[in-house]
Amino acid sequence: MAEVNVPQHVGIIMDGNGRWAKKRGLPRSFGHKQGAAVFKKTINWARELGVKCVTFYAFSTENWKRPADEVEGIMNLLRQYIKNYGGRDEITRAARELAREAASGEISPDGITEDSIEKLLYTAEMPPLDMIIRPSGEQRLSNFLIWQAAYAEFVF
Ligand code: IPE
Ligand code: IPE
Ligand code: MG
Repeated sequence: MAEVNVPQHVGIIMDGNGRWAKKRGLPRSFGHKQGAAVFKKTINWARELGVKCVTFYAFSTENWKRPADEVEGIMNLLRQYIKNYGGRDEITRAARELAREAASGEISPDGITEDSIEKLLYTAEMPPLDMIIRPSGEQRLSNFLIWQAAYAEFVF
């Protein structure tokens, strides 16, 4: 394989949604919808290229000054695309994917290892979790990184 330099972390300023829509005679909300769809595609492209981390700038403090209906539309899109994380949900999704692969014959149930689960977690490309810090006095994980926390130190 040819040697290529793949950036580890890329920052992306999401912009031009309004202009994209205007050019096509569409309302700005269509531009935001399209921008959100491309956001999802971009994540997949980055993964395929081996980029480990992508930080998106999707909404700024200044953007709160936009018309209320536009802000509401963007917030609805964010809600749709950035689904509330939950540790049990993360593991359930991995289980579902492995079940799908087993059902299609791609893998055998006996071939499923801790590693196969780990590869399907959101942290797959990241180094192991060393420490969890929680201020406020609560001493629990509240469904945060429950798989990854197996050997982490807890600091409350
Ligand atoms: C980026 O697109 C989305 C946000 C900043 C929320 P814009 O809405 O800024 O699109 P333009 O710049 O008007 O084209
Ligand atoms: C672009 O936002 C960056 C964000 C997606 C938050 P804007 O479109 O609001 O930025 P300006 O107004 O062109 O500086
Ligand atoms: Mg803009």
